[in-house]
Amino acid sequence: MDVQWYPGHMTKARRMMQEDMKLIDLVIELTDARAPLSGRNPDIDELAKNKSRVILLNKADMADERLTRCWEDYFRKAGWKTAAVNSRTSADMKQIWQIIMEASQEKLERDRKKGIQNRPVRAMIVGIPNVGKSTFINSFAGKASAKTGNKPGVTKGKQWIRPKKGIELLDTPGILWPKFDDPQVGTRLAALGSIRDEIIQTEELSLWVLDFLVKEYPGMLSGRYQIEETQDKTLLLADIARVRGCLKKGGEPDYERAASILLDDFRNGRIGRITLERP
Ligand code: G4P
Repeated sequence: MDVQWYPGHMTKARRMMQEDMKLIDLVIELTDARAPLSGRNPDIDELAKNKSRVILLNKADMADERLTRCWEDYFRKAGWKTAAVNSRTSADMKQIWQIIMEASQEKLERDRKKGIQNRPVRAMIVGIPNVGKSTFINSFAGKASAKTGNKPGVTKGKQWIRPKKGIELLDTPGILWPKFDDPQVGTRLAALGSIRDEIIQTEELSLWVLDFLVKEYPGMLSGRYQIEETQDKTLLLADIARVRGCLKKGGEPDYERAASILLDDFRNGRIGRITLERP
């Protein structure tokens, strides 16, 4: 499948990220819990190499809970502070706050040794487009949190918000570019809806999704659409078209419309909680 991120965007995103890195102590990286590796760009490891780090598995409400636990273990074993989160609610934010404080301990200790007291931890949210950065900032910071305004000595125009005493968050998240070295990455991100629809082939993608569901989550498709599961993906799509009334003149299945319905259901967690990759 042909999905691309233009080099011009990437260069600009990288440059902005490098500038913002100078201002912060802590990087809070969001990835998609449904594809935690495809949903992150490992270049951030180099860009943020001297910073405290947290990785959050966002949209965990739509991911396979068992695999989310495996991914949490995976990242923890690799030395990260990590948690699964649903950014659409504020329920998980207390735990996130604790993890952020744990990740900041080293910086606070360094400050103490230098005799610096009460300097807030400065943090930035980073992640690829659509991973939920703005949603997370809203839930974590809340509407009531104070904007701190421009600071002398800090690049003009930067806005900080103060979700709690002791932490300041850059109000514009850092945009990471997806990394498409492995063609499967583009396909997974497209399936999750993280890549704009105009540049992907809906029908081809829907066949990929059907194949994945039949193999990895047997029973889900029949549960959602009351159709019989078979290895023949085109037949499955035709069945979805039929049960959803997507028929052309003459009764032919409208594959394009059925594919759109399937993808929309899949992306919004209506077929079930799924994770596209395993640690
Ligand atoms: P970005 O800043 O990283 O680009 O992403 P943004 O916050 O705009 O989120 C992209 C979409 O993902 C939004 O949906 C948002 O509601 C959804 N989202 C973010 N975090 C979560 C989460 O933890 N769980 C679920 N289920 N969804 C999440 P949208 O359809 O584009 O907009 P809307 O439906 O919120 O209006």
